[in-house]
Amino acid sequence: MQDEGAPQLTQAVLQSFSGAPDPRVRTVLHQLISHLHAFVREADLTMDEWHAAIDFLTRTGHASTATRQEFILLSDVLGVSMLVDAINHKGHTGATETTVLGPFYVGEHRVTPHGTDLVPGAPGERVFVDASVTDAAGRPLDGAEVDVWHADGAGLYDVQQPGYTPGEPAMRARFVTGADGRFNFRTLVPCSYPVPTDGPVGELLAAGNRHAMRPAHIHFLLRAPGFEPLVTHVFVAGDKYLESDAVFGVKPSLIARLETRDDATWPDGTPAPARWHRLAYRFALKRVP
Ligand code: BEZ
Ligand code: FE
Repeated sequence: MQDEGAPQLTQAVLQSFSGAPDPRVRTVLHQLISHLHAFVREADLTMDEWHAAIDFLTRTGHASTATRQEFILLSDVLGVSMLVDAINHKGHTGATETTVLGPFYVGEHRVTPHGTDLVPGAPGERVFVDASVTDAAGRPLDGAEVDVWHADGAGLYDVQQPGYTPGEPAMRARFVTGADGRFNFRTLVPCSYPVPTDGPVGELLAAGNRHAMRPAHIHFLLRAPGFEPLVTHVFVAGDKYLESDAVFGVKPSLIARLETRDDATWPDGTPAPARWHRLAYRFALKRVP
């Protein structure tokens, strides 16, 4: 009969991978197997639980498509994405803080003139995003590329809409900064919305009695030659989910206040609605070491 808890089994599995030629692969596999076996032992996993775990992971794979990544969502709600983010962005560098990429970046961002309304004609209050891109010392960066994407008034991204056609992006754009490092655009005031709950990750949240909401935000991905790419959001101050983001992505430095305005013109001089908002933010990029 085997020893209870099969202590020699863990050693045998570790030994079986000890010949991996890549030392990093060897190290990571060693740690993965050690922790996985320790978890199974500590949880005293039943056969039914093992079957449920296999079924959950299988369905997570089946739920993933070209426009939906259920494994990233799983990583997000388990806090793994933000843990990897924290490990890879240690220390205060003067650069803007990072947060999750999220599952809705599809790389279909077209260069768009400053001032453009990203949701033309859609009902709802508008915000003028008045932003700049600098280095960590505050010097403006000319020619930085800024990809922007966000959800509509119902909390859905273009790729989640039933009629979405690949190659026809909406509510996403790429702005290129001028010599003053500035860019601006108009859009709907963002709202809080749930992460997708119609897949296995939704079941996991329900099993944990957790809500699925993310606080209102706009996504940004910034790039400039000689600087590290910056993946981040700007969150709207006052949102009731700032303290309980379903994916743990909020950092205080990424929260900005919407200033309510009634000037007759937008900052670029064109006619404005009776009431609008301004959101100002400076993004600072970190130089590649
Ligand atoms: C989002 O911001 O759209 C998002 C981020 C992580 C998981 C799901 C959604
Ligand atoms: Fe989002």
